Amino acid sequence: MTRKGIILAGGRGTRLYPVTLGVTKCLLPIYDKPLIYYSISTLMLSDIRDVLIITTPEDSKIYARLLGDGSEWGINISYDVQPKPEGIAQALIIGEKFLCNRSCALILADNIFHGNGLSEKLSKISKNNKNTVFTYTVDDPSRFGVCEVDENNMVISLEEKPIDSISNQAVTGLYFYDNEVSEIAKTIVPSLRGELEITDVNIEYMKAKKLYSEPLKNEYKWIDAGTVDSLMDACSYVRNIEKNEGIKISCPEEISYRKGWISSEMLQKLADNYDNDYGKYIKKLIS
Ligand code: DAU
Repeated sequence: MTRKGIILAGGRGTRLYPVTLGVTKCLLPIYDKPLIYYSISTLMLSDIRDVLIITTPEDSKIYARLLGDGSEWGINISYDVQPKPEGIAQALIIGEKFLCNRSCALILADNIFHGNGLSEKLSKISKNNKNTVFTYTVDDPSRFGVCEVDENNMVISLEEKPIDSISNQAVTGLYFYDNEVSEIAKTIVPSLRGELEITDVNIEYMKAKKLYSEPLKNEYKWIDAGTVDSLMDACSYVRNIEKNEGIKISCPEEISYRKGWISSEMLQKLADNYDNDYGKYIKKLIS
């Protein structure tokens, strides 16, 4: 059975204040599309068509206005709320009913993934039943969850934002879990900063020798667009690639069409909504 997907798009975005005082972070543009398009696309590339978006209570209607029920992209989108930002792992408890005992992928809505072959990699990993985190080499590991792996890529140590880091392998905000994850999340207790840490869920899987790491090497780009600088870096990265290569990164309409989830008539209809380069790009896919 295919996995279900949860996108966590709550939180206050305090690191981006005053930008996010009036607008929620994941609707901010990353060059030519809202930030949330990138996480949706990552799930779509993982062949996931049932998606739950968890937002703050105030923002849920705005996301629904932008994305609707997903049918235009050949997917099902539903919504739930996280009343307070009490931790990333809480998404797995809020999403328990939605998951209906199925395996899943959880993605943080401000994470951007790109690179040649990513689609094949995600699709393959999504099909197997392993619990998988994706790691990326970083210069500033103390900003992230960090892990060490053995020769079989099994995770053997994990730490959330270590002061003295054990490695420079950051755990990115995309996690593939089996159908036990909601039960495991319910056993976690809040950390010193008062949050249900996703790293603590991962530590439970690690202790059971059931957590694997998939390294995203040089050919891939990962950006956690949660700060002013990383948001700007993301805009420049997407702009450069899209201008130089004439492609679009994380265009849900394109992914859906290429996967055969929507017909050319449906794609044409979507293209007709936009009198700009985005619309022209989509239209060109049909010819
Ligand atoms: O981006 C990868 C990193 O994400 C991982 O390496 C860390 O292990 C993981 O803890 C997380 O660290 P961050 O410092 O980036 O987490 P942050 O608190 O910024 O939350 C990430 C996103 O999730 C952000 O867009 C807000 C949202 N969020 C966060 C919390 C704690 C929620 O929607 N609700 C929450 O309760």
